[in-house]
Amino acid sequence: MLPSADQNEILRRRTFAIISHPDAGKTTLTEKLLLYGGAIHVAGAVKSNKIRKTATSDWMEIEKQRGISVATSVMGFDYRRTAGDSHAPQDDTIYHINILDTPGHQDFAEDTFRTLTAVDSAIVVIDSAKGVEAQTRRLMEVCRMRKTPVMVFMNKMDREGKDPFDLMDEAEKELGIHCTPVTWANGQGLKFESVFALDNRPENLSPKLQEDLEMIDGVYPAFDREAYLRGDLAPVFYGSAYKTVGVQELLDFFVKNAPSPRPVLAEEREVAPMEDKFTAFCFKIHANMDPNHRSCIAFFKICSGKFLRNTYYYHVRKDQQMRFAAPTCFMAQKKETVDEAFAGDIVGLPDTGNFKIGDTLTSGEKLHFKGLPSFSPEMFKYIDNADPMKQKQLDKGVSQLMDEGVAQLFVSQLNGRKIIGTVGQLQFEVIQYRLEHEYQAKCKWQPLQMYKACWIESDDEAELDTFKKRKAQYMAFDKEGRDVFMADSAYVLNMAQQDYKHITFHFTSEF
Ligand code: G4P
Repeated sequence: MLPSADQNEILRRRTFAIISHPDAGKTTLTEKLLLYGGAIHVAGAVKSNKIRKTATSDWMEIEKQRGISVATSVMGFDYRRTAGDSHAPQDDTIYHINILDTPGHQDFAEDTFRTLTAVDSAIVVIDSAKGVEAQTRRLMEVCRMRKTPVMVFMNKMDREGKDPFDLMDEAEKELGIHCTPVTWANGQGLKFESVFALDNRPENLSPKLQEDLEMIDGVYPAFDREAYLRGDLAPVFYGSAYKTVGVQELLDFFVKNAPSPRPVLAEEREVAPMEDKFTAFCFKIHANMDPNHRSCIAFFKICSGKFLRNTYYYHVRKDQQMRFAAPTCFMAQKKETVDEAFAGDIVGLPDTGNFKIGDTLTSGEKLHFKGLPSFSPEMFKYIDNADPMKQKQLDKGVSQLMDEGVAQLFVSQLNGRKIIGTVGQLQFEVIQYRLEHEYQAKCKWQPLQMYKACWIESDDEAELDTFKKRKAQYMAFDKEGRDVFMADSAYVLNMAQQDYKHITFHFTSEF
């Protein structure tokens, strides 16, 4: 076990992600949280870093953003609660908050899924005029799968929107989790004035509000922290990020009740944050920050112990000791070199191609962290070289971008052609642009009619063999050399599943 001073460091950490549909108010809320933490001093500072998700083909913009987005990938700041309530009496703890940024654009959903593997809890932001949208539902599925504790912020209550009770019902149904309000809105829509904590109600309530509160008391369970930590119950808050209403209530409640770093499951065993041995896994790689220097930053989530600068750690996949002279942590929007970091923190390690997503660093133990799935892509194209003089550059660029997790590469077993699979059109444009600007390579895309890629597996080798022979033209290797079946229609996939009962078709691959 770590010495108690180090344990306290870990206990005060809160590492979380904000999940929302684009435009629900994630950026605005993040900014207000940073303002409360004193980490920034003017509103608008985060906003300017945001990728405009409306411009579906504006990848120039994305390119411009990449320079700053490393700083906004993690926003760390310290915060001390200002007021007590019955759930959470006043305390002197200075909490250390790490907000992990999740790309808003749905074409980068896979990035967001991976970010969710690195957080200990999440806040879901819902636009109260629009309700729960499809993308939020999908991200919430990942949270449920991982039993991530979730709080819900009903944003934009200052606008004409849905009734707060209807919003509660919708959240329960669409997010698939029990909900209970912790604050309530005084008025709604254009009559929205303020929010108050349900366990600290104002006097002289209007008859309507009185009636609402009776209803709430009758219908919703009291907040139960254990149920929240198990991922069974989401506390719900009402407010407006833009008008800074209800944000402090959320933040105070959050730091007190959200979990400090949680145990992480490796293939070999469960790793507890307080263990004195350091362990971490890579969930994100940001390549070529500066086109003049081939520099990458690998983002590691520390699962246990304490990380020290210039200390040798074991790179499990490479079976090699490595040390880092310039690790960075992220304070507010600045990247700073750090001497030490603790379980719960994210460290950025400058990298020259040693790391892949899913890599593990330890103090010597051979561990592999689970749960960094690669989802079955939904769009496919052949990638061809458009400049015969630059084949090497193209190969290198494609390989590095795939390690970064931008998209997935498959190689046809029939003809050796490279196929790129993505979840959205925008990713193809980003790849092409980055190949050109970072690797001086040119590519061409060739359309490919494809329904789904699935990883196949079977104990029945004879059947697997027959399958691979019969489906030779649909077989590909993934980046690790595993067999992938590329079905060109739902029908073909269904038939294959029916005809080959001993073969399992996986739609995600664990890294
Ligand atoms: P996102 O990161 O989830 O995509 O959302 P973002 O914070 O950028 O908010 C999307 C839009 O919603 C912004 O308006 C923002 O000002 C607005 N907004 C956020 N919270 C609230 C709120 O509580 N009430 C109201 N009425 N609006 C809110 P925009 O027009 O896109 O940008 P801007 O011109 O306001 O900067």
